[in-house]
Amino acid sequence: MSLDTFRQSRWYSLVWIVPALIGAAAIIVALAMWLRLQPDVQSFMADYPGRSELPEGATEGFPAWLAWQHFFNSFFILFVIRSGWQIRTTKRPAAYWTRNNTGLLRTKGEPQRISIHQWFHISINALWLLNGLVLYVLLFSTNQWMRIVPVSWDIFPNAVSAGLQYASLNWPVEMGWVNYNALQTLAYFVTVFVAAPLAVLTGLRMTPGLAARWKPLERVFPVQLARLLHFPIMVYFVLFIIVHVALVLLTGALNNLNHMYAIRDDQSWWGFGLFVASLVVMAVAWVAAKPSILAMIAGLSGKVRR
Ligand code: HEM
Ligand code: HEM
Repeated sequence: MSLDTFRQSRWYSLVWIVPALIGAAAIIVALAMWLRLQPDVQSFMADYPGRSELPEGATEGFPAWLAWQHFFNSFFILFVIRSGWQIRTTKRPAAYWTRNNTGLLRTKGEPQRISIHQWFHISINALWLLNGLVLYVLLFSTNQWMRIVPVSWDIFPNAVSAGLQYASLNWPVEMGWVNYNALQTLAYFVTVFVAAPLAVLTGLRMTPGLAARWKPLERVFPVQLARLLHFPIMVYFVLFIIVHVALVLLTGALNNLNHMYAIRDDQSWWGFGLFVASLVVMAVAWVAAKPSILAMIAGLSGKVRR
C-alpha cells in the first residue's frame, strides 16, 4: 500500500492512537517510578510485597493432571473462540445440521436446524465444559485450589503493590512454582470462577433446543441479556490469553513453560519442547477443522444439509 492510499483508507483516521498509547504508557511508567520513591509508598510496599501468603497446607509445584487440564483447556478454547467468531461473522453457513430424532433424545416435533458453526461451537463447548468440571473436582479434592482462590482481603493491597511493580518496570519476583503474585491470582480466579461460569450460563441460555426450557426464568435471565453478555465474555478471554501468554514468555519463558508443560522447576528445554508440540497439535487440528470434515463428523449424529 502506498502512502497515499494509506492516507485515504479508513485506518488513517486511527493513526493518532499509536502516539496516544505510547504517551499514556510513558506517563504511567513515570508516575509509578516516582510513586515508588515516596517513603509512604515504600513502607506500603514493605507491608504488602505483592503476593498474599498461601493458606496452611498449600503444596509447592504443579501436579501432572493440571498440565493436562491446562493443555486441553487451551486446545478446546481455541476452537470455541474460532467457532464463536464464525457464528458471529458468517452470513451464509456452508452447511446445517439437524440431530437425529431417535433413542433417548426422541422428542415430539422435528428438532431445530442449526448451522455447522453452531454445531461445532456447542460440541467443542461440551468437551471444554467437561474438562472444566473435572478441573473443579480435582482442584478442590486436592490443595491445588489454594493457589488461585484468594482467601484474605490483603489480596487487594497486594494487587496494587504488584501493579505498581509492573508499571514501574521493576516486575514482581518470579516464583510461580511456589506462589503467584496477587494480580496473577486474581486474574486466574476471575478466569476460572467468574468468566468461565458466565460463558457457560449465557451460552446455555442461547442454545437452540435448550432455550425453551429456560422460559420460566425469562424474567430474571432473558435471552437478550445472555446474547448481550456472551460476546464481551469472549473479548475478556481473548485479552486474558494475550496478556497471559505474553507475560509467560516475557518473565522467564523456559522456567514458566517448564512449570506448566513439563512439571519441573529448572532451566531445561523440556517445557519449551512440549509447548511447541502442543502448538503443532493445535495447528494440525486448526487446518483439519474445515467445513467438509466437520460436516462428516456432524453427519454421525444428525442430518447435514448444504
Ligand atoms: C498456549 C498458550 C498458553 C500458555 C503458553 C500458558 C502458560 C501457562 C504457564 C507457564 C502457567 C504457569 C505460570 C507460572 O508458573 O508462573 C499457566 C498457568 C495458568 N494458565 Fe495458562 N497458558 C496458555 C493458555 C491459557 C489459557 C487459554 C487459559 C484459560 C483460558 C489459561 C489459564 C491459566 C490458569 C488459570 C493458570 C493457573 C493454573 C493454576 O495454578 O491452577 N492459560 N499458564
Ligand atoms: C458451555 C459453554 C458455551 C455454550 C453452550 C455456548 C453457546 C453458544 C451459542 C448457542 C451461540 C449462538 C448464539 C446465536 O445463535 O446467536 C454462541 C455464540 C457465541 N459464542 Fe458461545 N457458548 C459457550 C461458551 C463460549 C465461550 C467460552 C466463548 C469464548 C471464549 C464463546 C464465544 C462465542 C461467540 C463469540 C459467539 C458469537 C456471539 C455473537 O454472535 O455475538 N462461547 N455460543
